[in-house]
Amino acid sequence: MQQIVYVDGSFVPAADAKVSVFDRGFLFADGIYEVSAVLDGKLIDNDSHLARLQRSVGEIALALPVTLQRIVDIQKELIARNDLTDGLVYLQVTRGAAIPRDFAFPKHPKPTLVMFASAKDIVNAASAKTGIGVVTVPDIRWARRDIKSVALLAQVLAKQAAAEAGCAEAWMIEDGKVTEGGSSSAFILTQDDVLVTRQNSSAILPGCTRKAVMKLAEERQLRVEERAFSVDEALAGKEAFITSASLFVQAVVTIDGRTVANGKPGPMTTRLREIYVEFARATAV
Ligand code: PDD
Repeated sequence: MQQIVYVDGSFVPAADAKVSVFDRGFLFADGIYEVSAVLDGKLIDNDSHLARLQRSVGEIALALPVTLQRIVDIQKELIARNDLTDGLVYLQVTRGAAIPRDFAFPKHPKPTLVMFASAKDIVNAASAKTGIGVVTVPDIRWARRDIKSVALLAQVLAKQAAAEAGCAEAWMIEDGKVTEGGSSSAFILTQDDVLVTRQNSSAILPGCTRKAVMKLAEERQLRVEERAFSVDEALAGKEAFITSASLFVQAVVTIDGRTVANGKPGPMTTRLREIYVEFARATAV
């Protein structure tokens, strides 16, 4: 089946989709993106992603070209047109094409909105059973990581370093502490059964899955602490895991080749993954 994508008002076969070479997303990474998961053809935690989208575009003074309701309609139409059961819907809005190339905003920007859907079996991913390895890299990103910017070169390099080491994710390190994963939030479970994840600030992206998992954990009387942690603390803990829309909850079983606990996904991570999947299915729209 031909993949159908959305570009600026039209649903077109992927091979026919076009964006100008003068698009500021292409020239300056002047744009914002979001990724929502899809289970059984329905969107997961989508309001949270759209709220973050609205905040991100606001932080760079970029006006969405369509309403949030229209975005939901396009997401649903992409799911339907691509016959998507499980996977992801990606959306990206940029400040559009402007000639000549000039750093400052164009006077009358015409934002570009691109969206596409892709299949992925998130629930039955093999790595959810085995857990994943991570490598650590210095966090070389800019100072506004709370904005979900399409400027992802640091993450591209981090995840390439991970891939070269046979790992699925990189944990980025700043001042001796983990900020987050290349495309995920980082958690550990201490020996005292406290879930620890870094507090939101401009140092990390406020993960939607992170937020949902924290709430689900607290509702079950688990202790959650929002603070920075080091790799040594992760290695001394009981469990470690990552969260994101594209993988939900997945155990981290090695860090730079050193095993976390017994090197297998721990019971808390496994349980939180089940609880998240239940929440996702129950609240899908
Ligand atoms: N990435 N931190 C970073 C740097 C991310 O890029 C992501 C998501 C997350 C997790 O956020 P959420 O739970 O809202 O997905 C944390 C998406 C999935 C991506 O880039 O593909």
